Amino acid sequence: MPLMNDTQVIQRVLDHADAKTTDLGDTVWREPVENYRSAEQFAREMALFKRLPMVFCPSAALPNNGDYVARTLAGAPIVAVRGDDGVVRAFHNACRHRGMMVVEGSGNARGFACRYHAWAYGLDGSLRYVPGEEGFPGMDKEAHGLVPVHAQERGGLIFVTQGEAISEGALEGLPDLIAPGQTVFEYSSFTDDANWKLLLETSMEGYHIKALHNKSFYPFGFDNLNVVETYGTNSRIVFPFRRIEKLRDKPANERRAEGMLTYVYQLFPNTRLATLSNHYLLVILEPVSPTQSLWVIYRLQTPDAGALEKSKKDAAFVKDNGVIEDRAAACSIQQGLAGDGNTHFTFGRYEKAAVHFHQNLRAHLDMLAGS
Ligand code: FES
Ligand SMILES: [Fe+2]
Repeated sequence: MPLMNDTQVIQRVLDHADAKTTDLGDTVWREPVENYRSAEQFAREMALFKRLPMVFCPSAALPNNGDYVARTLAGAPIVAVRGDDGVVRAFHNACRHRGMMVVEGSGNARGFACRYHAWAYGLDGSLRYVPGEEGFPGMDKEAHGLVPVHAQERGGLIFVTQGEAISEGALEGLPDLIAPGQTVFEYSSFTDDANWKLLLETSMEGYHIKALHNKSFYPFGFDNLNVVETYGTNSRIVFPFRRIEKLRDKPANERRAEGMLTYVYQLFPNTRLATLSNHYLLVILEPVSPTQSLWVIYRLQTPDAGALEKSKKDAAFVKDNGVIEDRAAACSIQQGLAGDGNTHFTFGRYEKAAVHFHQNLRAHLDMLAGS
């Protein structure tokens, strides 16, 4: 089923505001707390991540030929690069001599030269140059290019699958999410002492807006009023602002969603994309250990003139307010997991997107175990 359009979403929000209701899921989900702290569960999740198309970075991070991004993906060093032909490819970031990463961070390059002994690779991964080649008699250079992994560019996002895909994951029914021509205006990355799922779950419901975000989001947004849609393994949650009430007087076809609500797309398994009034916020939660996660954050700007200042203001608002509170909540839960206060967590009908996420994660782990 396609996602609702803005007009439909706005009407649904206004109806919920009138009736003091919200979208509800139809099941309650009990998730064992062990799944947030066990090394075995973590290993299973990482094995799954290697067999799903995972969001690696936005297309806007690789606008030009030769642009590259290197980071860990499900624990493995991977580099994605836009080749001379404009096609994005991805490789295991491990030199074929003795394994050193051939590149780190991001930038633009004509090729990659390993810093250890200077073996050099083209943007297409091929091994181009081996100093003192006669020291490697019989070595087939053709067979010693960087080992490729599957890369796919779709809807403004680059997806990378390291192994044989077990399912389409987030790509199932995925609409184009990021408008063309975006530029990255901010990149950041930091770690939190919390399981990746705890951090992701904070954006999967609006049931906590009044309690946790009393002075940050709640003055501007509704508590527990969300439109929640699922598509494939993904979901989209609408967080409306109170000022959406102003649209009541407008005919339905003149109502614009911009500035009135935030769409938060949850891309299975570990990515969220929020469309804010003036920019996109792409968040990838890269698991480091059962109790630690790396945030990979890109802020993308709409191309209109003067948008940058507005985007920066928007970004500061989200960062300084709500997100700090969400991160603290996730880290507090993680600390509690050291004790035995809970055997499981309960996700209720207000937490439909989180239930959908857990259902899909469970189903995929079962699929992997059976494969
Ligand atoms: S490990 Fe890369 S050149 Fe030796
Ligand atoms: Fe929150």
